[in-house]
Amino acid sequence: MQAKGKATLEYTDGKTAEFPVFGGSIGPDVIDIRTLLGKTGMFTYDPGFLSTASCQSAITYIDGDEGVLLYRGYPIEQIAQHCDFLETAYLILNGELPTAAEKAEFDSTVTHHTMVHEQLTRFFSGFRRDAHPMAVMVGVVGALSAFYHDSLDINDANHRRVSAIRLIAKLPTIVAMSYKYTVGQPFVYPTNNLSYSANFMRMMFSVPTEEYKVNDVLVRALDRILILHADHEQNASTSTVRLAGSSGANPFACISTGIACLWGPAHGGANEACLHMLEELQARGGVEKLGEFIAQVKDKTSQVKLMGFGHRVYKNYDPRAKLMRETCHEVLTELGLHDDPLFKLAIALEKVALEDEYFVQRKLYPNVDFYSGIVQRALGIPTSMFTCIFALARTVGWIAQWTEMIADPEMKIGRPRQLYTGAARRDLTPIGQR
Ligand code: ACO
Repeated sequence: MQAKGKATLEYTDGKTAEFPVFGGSIGPDVIDIRTLLGKTGMFTYDPGFLSTASCQSAITYIDGDEGVLLYRGYPIEQIAQHCDFLETAYLILNGELPTAAEKAEFDSTVTHHTMVHEQLTRFFSGFRRDAHPMAVMVGVVGALSAFYHDSLDINDANHRRVSAIRLIAKLPTIVAMSYKYTVGQPFVYPTNNLSYSANFMRMMFSVPTEEYKVNDVLVRALDRILILHADHEQNASTSTVRLAGSSGANPFACISTGIACLWGPAHGGANEACLHMLEELQARGGVEKLGEFIAQVKDKTSQVKLMGFGHRVYKNYDPRAKLMRETCHEVLTELGLHDDPLFKLAIALEKVALEDEYFVQRKLYPNVDFYSGIVQRALGIPTSMFTCIFALARTVGWIAQWTEMIADPEMKIGRPRQLYTGAARRDLTPIGQR
């Protein structure tokens, strides 16, 4: 990389140190501070990585102020309109859109890896029936590394490719199994004559006693959810996957760390939390109680947050939320649920919040989770499965980011430093004298 300039740091007693400045293809420049410790004896302090680029990446670009999201340079709106999920996955993994022949080959390869090793199915019976499906997912996806040893050499590009395909292909099967296990229904094996999303819906919802009918509008809605969640640059779970992978851990183990991180309510658990919030508000009186609820959200002592609002990077309307709102309308119309009280409540809540000074001042806009919970509920997906669907989609981003990192010659084991605030050196008093 060629430096485009330099930044000068003035520190203790007027000393100075210079650092190169690098520019990306778009977006803010970065100051390369890798030599900071050697030059100044100091670290940077940046909890939550608010101003730190942890890597270079060519996969996803976000302009949070403008509400822009690009996968490999293509706007999310165009991808959502013209591509299906596997085409999106191909793009994210390979950097370019596939030709029709490449797409057919990729679809076929993924389709022919959807079965899981039969012994893996026995893992499920070790979990309690009432276990959260994300708990099951963390365990079962991590366990994949015990089954697919033949693709674990991270330094072999073909092994990396095979692992990526296996993960993308098997995640829908594992997510559906996690669901079937909790409801006590038999696992449904994948079928090769359906699309990725249609196959997933069949594995989730069909039972041996009835023929499953694919609804194209609902399949398209699920596909869109997957597209919108496929990657989001260096978010918490992706950074977790990269950090785990930086030690040389195998890709299945790394993806299970991403799933664990995604589970948190500030990240992937937000759509579940958002739907709970809407249901609770509905039970308390719905639209009538909106004012009271918003007042509670604004009261810092209440610890109540407006779930589905706010984002670390977007300080504008999340472009995925706009697309999800559109999908929400399509699904509710298809199912004749347009008068759905939760949807009406969500629209009213969004309007009130967007006009309220508290949210305007802090640039808090709806994020993708605000509508995705309503869509998934309408598709018949239970709330506890929402984050699993997110994990299924994000597996594409995680594995693409992991692959990019392993191939990056600048990759180093991730090892942040700290500002130590504990006790200075002191001498110990033996227990009998304390
Ligand atoms: N409701 C009420 N107030 C909020 C909200 C919210 N949802 N989000 C942020 N704020 C307030 C904060 O209290 C803070 O106020 P202050 O300046 O008076 O102290 C201000 O807005 C700035 O917020 P931060 O917490 O500094 O923003 P940060 O970037 O750290 O947090 C986060 C982003 C975690 C997403 C936050 O907005 C949030 O918790 N939102 C709700 C959960 C959610 O929807 N998460 C989904 C994220 S998207 C995803 O993972 C796909």
